[in-house]
Amino acid sequence: MAKAKIQAPKGVSEYVPPRSAAFEFVREALITPARKAGYQMIELPVFEDTELFTRGVGESTDVVSKEMYTFEDRGGRSITLRPEGTAGVMRAVIEHGLDRGQLPSKLWYSGAFFRAERPQAGRYRQFYQVGIEAIGLDDPAIDAEVIAIADAGFKAIGLRKYRLDITSLGDAQSRAAHRVDLVKYIAGLNLDEATQLRAALNPLRLFDDKRPEIQKAMQDAPLLLDYLSENSKKHFDQVKTYLDVLGISYTLNPRMVRGLDYYTGTTFEFVHELLGAQSGIGGGGRYDGLMSELGGQELSGIGFGLGVDRALLAAEAEEVIDSQSFVSDLFIIPLGEAAKQKALTIAATIRAAGKTVEIAFGDRALKGAMKGADKSGARYVVVLGDSEIASATVELKEMKSGATSSVKIDSLISAL
Ligand code: HAM
Repeated sequence: MAKAKIQAPKGVSEYVPPRSAAFEFVREALITPARKAGYQMIELPVFEDTELFTRGVGESTDVVSKEMYTFEDRGGRSITLRPEGTAGVMRAVIEHGLDRGQLPSKLWYSGAFFRAERPQAGRYRQFYQVGIEAIGLDDPAIDAEVIAIADAGFKAIGLRKYRLDITSLGDAQSRAAHRVDLVKYIAGLNLDEATQLRAALNPLRLFDDKRPEIQKAMQDAPLLLDYLSENSKKHFDQVKTYLDVLGISYTLNPRMVRGLDYYTGTTFEFVHELLGAQSGIGGGGRYDGLMSELGGQELSGIGFGLGVDRALLAAEAEEVIDSQSFVSDLFIIPLGEAAKQKALTIAATIRAAGKTVEIAFGDRALKGAMKGADKSGARYVVVLGDSEIASATVELKEMKSGATSSVKIDSLISAL
């Protein structure tokens, strides 16, 4: 009896050909602007001490209270698969003393993250982010630059149908003043016990509650943006000025609540028009208390996490990815042993010049090999037999048009 097949765990995103090429393209497009702005790569473990997230991300959040993959390892330690990247980056910055050198410390990362959410289109239990963190500077210009780097990534993919929401959560003084009035307001509402508990941990969470009755109840709640201190207001005004200078348009959204508790000051989210319920393709903001919360010095920071899975879905919805750009430049079909050897050396030379070359191995008959070339989507194909080797000339066939031309083997690179 055939053995039962094993399937991937529920709700994970995975990418296999041909779609994996588009995924790779999207991820590269999101990373490149960060590299160009001088951010350096950081590669961190996908599991960390659970306390990093309970302390760093906050116990009032869904991410920590409901969605963490937490388990005991063989040494009896509580371990959690990283639900996000910022806390881990801060842990590493403190541990490796990256905050003792030139500031800001500017880092980018890319990898898998884990949240035990209810799976649906665009929401996965293992998903991918590209993120950056700039630590140690509270110049509002860096806030604008961080936002611009995310925007440049989305633009490089070709996305157009998205908007940028921004707000400010202010400094400690602003939040304390707002909290007094917000708590008063919430006390006047008729809430169930679980919601009251959430509100006690972080009253801002109620703005993010998806239930219509709560949304309605929160309609007249005091907004943090109206409580900004002189300093916070000035900082946020400057961020907006720099965004204007950069020509990046934004929508002020004072009701925006990010799903993580460490945010302070400037916060933002990129929202795509065609993605339905899971429309957030990226988000981030300042987290001026996180470093000290994790035992480091008092340093400010700002960053973002961009959803690679969702950016790919958005690109597919907008039909902006040209799958033609992922195919090989040349497909060589060798006929016979001498041709096979020649094909190997030709391919090596052309690949060294930066082109993509495939060879049809397996001594298949010409017809079958041609089918393989067609399936691969390669731009050009050549058949290499004894006469081609003798004349050092091949017929270069453009697959799309079917047009052929005689080309010296030495000139193949320029002909491509
Ligand atoms: P976040 O908003 O929780 O922020 O996640 C960033 C992005 O990751 C989201 O906008 C979304 O595109 C994607 N994402 C989140 N959860 C899922 C999921 N279950 N399935 C698919 N995609 C998902 C953070 O994680 C912060 N660490 C960002 C940050 C960096 N803030 C400051 N620095």
